[in-house]
Amino acid sequence: MNKKIGVFDSGLGGLTVLKELYKAMPAEDFYIFGDTKNVPYGTRPGEEIESLSYSAFKKLENLGLKAFVIACNTATVYSLEKISKSTDIPVVGVIEPGVMAALENDLEKVLVLATEATIRSGLIQKLLKAGKPSIEVEGIGAPKMVLAVENGLGKSEEGRKIVYSYLDQATIDPDGVMLSCTHFPVLQDFVVDYYKEKGKDIKIIDPAKKCAEIIKGELAKEGMLTSEKDKGKVEFFTSGDTESYKKIGNVILGDTLTIDEVKNL
Ligand code: DGL
Repeated sequence: MNKKIGVFDSGLGGLTVLKELYKAMPAEDFYIFGDTKNVPYGTRPGEEIESLSYSAFKKLENLGLKAFVIACNTATVYSLEKISKSTDIPVVGVIEPGVMAALENDLEKVLVLATEATIRSGLIQKLLKAGKPSIEVEGIGAPKMVLAVENGLGKSEEGRKIVYSYLDQATIDPDGVMLSCTHFPVLQDFVVDYYKEKGKDIKIIDPAKKCAEIIKGELAKEGMLTSEKDKGKVEFFTSGDTESYKKIGNVILGDTLTIDEVKNL
């Protein structure tokens, strides 16, 4: 059986990571699962996030995987360790790739937008400080941004208002904003606009590209990368409503990929 790369998120946000994975490895086959029945994860206690994420991994593992991408910052914080310990296949999350990308950009003042659970863990703040002790970091938990994307408001004026209301809360004047929730790249233009209106060009850090680079490197090292002859296939799964996953998902994917069918898992 041809084993695939499994990609998982609490909801639709994983699609922003899938885009980069697909661009980096177009010959690979992917399964992507969005746990939209249980989204949001970011407002739940850590043990619940761990257990939901582990069940999601098991569901995809049963289909046959050669690697697993936790395309959710919140799930990465609370379940990367448990999932990695339970399997021999490469498992990659999005927290470290995001921190690596931020440090490579040599930022001085970073605003981290994420879920409440990710901010509460303090993991990103700690890793940034470990990499660059002089860095100033402020974290804002932005649950309404997750819901805006899940409800298909990612490109709407309502979405813009929600983003602006969180950015208004920031007390630092950042040179970079980390989109440390995989739903947030959908709202990226609003973040950029907000600072442009203040006459500032900020750097946006989206962990997805770095994540794709890392998993590609791991597969190459193990000799498990598919040759570039064929185009890969992506199969889409959700625990929730298949039609709305397809409709909103296609807007998020733009012209990179098209969702024709979504199955329940
Ligand atoms: N996409 C998830 C992340 O990257 C968060 C969404 C949620 O709250 O479930 O953290």
